[in-house]
Amino acid sequence: MANNIRGFNSKFGTIMAATGGAVGLGNIWRFPYTAGSNGGGAFLIIYFLFVLFLGLPVMLSEETIGRRAQKNVLGAFKVLAPKHKIWMAPGLISIVTAIVIYSFYSVVAGWTLNYIIASASGLLSGKSPDEITEFFNTFTSNSIFPLIYQFIFLLLTIFIINRGVKDGIEKCTKILMPILLLLLIVMCIRSLTLEGAYKGVEFLFKPDFSKLDGNSILDALGQAMFSLSIGMGALITYGSYMLKQDNLFTTSLWIAGADTLVAILAGVAIFPAVFAFGLEPTSGPSLVYIVLPNVFNSMSGGTVFAVAFFILLSIAALTSTISLLEVPVLWANESFSWGRRKASLIFSALVFVLGIFCSLSFGCLSNFTICGKTVFDLFDFITANLLMPIGAIFFTLLIGWHLPKADVYDELSNSGAIKPKLFNIFYFIIRYIAPLALLVVLISGLL
Ligand code: TRP
Repeated sequence: MANNIRGFNSKFGTIMAATGGAVGLGNIWRFPYTAGSNGGGAFLIIYFLFVLFLGLPVMLSEETIGRRAQKNVLGAFKVLAPKHKIWMAPGLISIVTAIVIYSFYSVVAGWTLNYIIASASGLLSGKSPDEITEFFNTFTSNSIFPLIYQFIFLLLTIFIINRGVKDGIEKCTKILMPILLLLLIVMCIRSLTLEGAYKGVEFLFKPDFSKLDGNSILDALGQAMFSLSIGMGALITYGSYMLKQDNLFTTSLWIAGADTLVAILAGVAIFPAVFAFGLEPTSGPSLVYIVLPNVFNSMSGGTVFAVAFFILLSIAALTSTISLLEVPVLWANESFSWGRRKASLIFSALVFVLGIFCSLSFGCLSNFTICGKTVFDLFDFITANLLMPIGAIFFTLLIGWHLPKADVYDELSNSGAIKPKLFNIFYFIIRYIAPLALLVVLISGLL
């Protein structure tokens, strides 16, 4: 079967690869804090609803596009919508988005490598909170070292991508994702068994509806999209590797379920420990890179847990950068017959050049702003608020309005081999609700 030659070997491998792409830095520091500060359990309810009613259908649409077309992000639209040039737009946007996200994402990913080494060599232990903050600021504002770590991270990603889809992406995520889950569970147990842990559990789960407002709803939606890696064709690319006999509904449920579970477990690993030691949760990178090292310092056996945590974070980031780099690599491979090696080197070089500006945003370029944002923040903003919603709107329009309904059904029912019970609900959401909801996100994100 053509699909076996092209892509993943098994449904398990598919789910691990796609979950690896979804589970990333977004789950481990962004989700817990966003949930905690937006009313805990109240936010979680909204988040679940978005994952279920918007994230899952869009994810399913991307997979359908990729598996139907058996092509990269741009090629898929050429196959499925050959008549109108406008359908080149989502393909091109996806490739640009992947490269831009990769540029700033790999900066933070590089930091984690530094933190593995720093915690393993005892550089962080015994330090006062001020010294730990100082360590973070000195490191991130340095013009050279973060770039070295970022470079190493890019090399790791290239190494796996070069080994191919089955022997690289599938094999490595099949090993790394279970390790990640195991490490995370160990961290959760450690965190929950600390005295005073319940306050962190409360922060994360106790519903406080008074903290919910319009912004929390947007936050929930934005977080769901980023976390599930939808809106930039990563799942079109991986969808083209999915087996024709797999049920895409169950595949998507697994991916979205695992991604959400990891996000919640990350919160359970982080907050009880933070509160147990009387620290304040903060937002953004400092939660993981400043607050947590303090937590580990106060904990018995802290060094081991610190190393384990930063390894976990690196794994999460690596399986995501793989999914980001694969998007342009497959495109160049199918469009210009570039080998995977050539394609991955060229795109990584481009990402590294852009990444220099992102990295220096924390140092000598911190005063260099465009529209009041550093390059790092600008890249984050443009992708999350502009490119990803636009991409997702195009995907839903292709499935809901452009392709004949019979074709969509044919793909999702594996040409009649299975009967997807939820098809009509899915189709209704994708045709009417999802594009409108995404449009609202797009407009409000820009305002
Ligand atoms: N989902 C990843 C995270 O939570 C990040 C990521 C990887 C991503 N690939 C993506 C986000 C594609 C959007 C689109 O960290």
